[in-house]
Amino acid sequence: MLNLGVNIDHVATVRQARAAQVPNILAAAVAAQKGGANGITVHLREDRRHIQDSDVIYLKKKIVMKLNLEMACSTEIVQFACRVRPADVCLVPEKRKELTTEGGLDVCKHINRISAVTAQLKKMGIRVSHFIDPVAEQVKSAKAAGADCVELHTGSYALAYGKGRYVKALRDLTQSAELAQYLGMKVNAGHGLDYQNLKEIVKITGLQELNIGFSIVARAIFVGLEQAVHEMKSVINNCAR
Ligand code: PXP
Repeated sequence: MLNLGVNIDHVATVRQARAAQVPNILAAAVAAQKGGANGITVHLREDRRHIQDSDVIYLKKKIVMKLNLEMACSTEIVQFACRVRPADVCLVPEKRKELTTEGGLDVCKHINRISAVTAQLKKMGIRVSHFIDPVAEQVKSAKAAGADCVELHTGSYALAYGKGRYVKALRDLTQSAELAQYLGMKVNAGHGLDYQNLKEIVKITGLQELNIGFSIVARAIFVGLEQAVHEMKSVINNCAR
């Protein structure tokens, strides 16, 4: 079964626009669950531009679904994750000025630091995923660094899809998914996925989880979050092999 993790960062983006109490993050998680989400994903960025520490603590306490925390390898955030202990952590690269996570983690280049952080989190019983570009060397390095799972960055695919030139990007994702499974890792995917471009992604054999945020929250403005998640689940269920 292909699971859907709903990223609710941009619910918090709206709240932070006025430094207000609404929209309520737990209410968003509950609506996503009613719509069929299998998990909730949040990214605690170093600049705290949307999700706050208190959101992560509150969600961990209150939701019945799995919580997946996206985060950079910075010491302060790693210590926070070890205290809160979400079910999953996805290690991502982070640049202060980026609008969103632009590329995958360069595990090949930073293998010592990433291995140490991965081990530290795993010791706390957290399942660790590495968010990487669909490149064989990165998949092999994630395995060498101790990742339980890779999340394949679908951003390049999503951009190419919009221009009708996505075959190579899809092949890179498919081959990386095959390699990761061969090496014994779980395979997730995410970034830039929407109700259209998702249709080819769900056919990739062995994918276990998709993490989708922006397109769902954008749709939710018109139909509500529960319905927006329900529609995304329907695309997944109708198009999956
Ligand atoms: N997966 C990871 C690791 C991410 O960093 C993000 C963006 O926060 C997503 C998935 C969701 O991407 P989008 O909001 O484009 O659906």
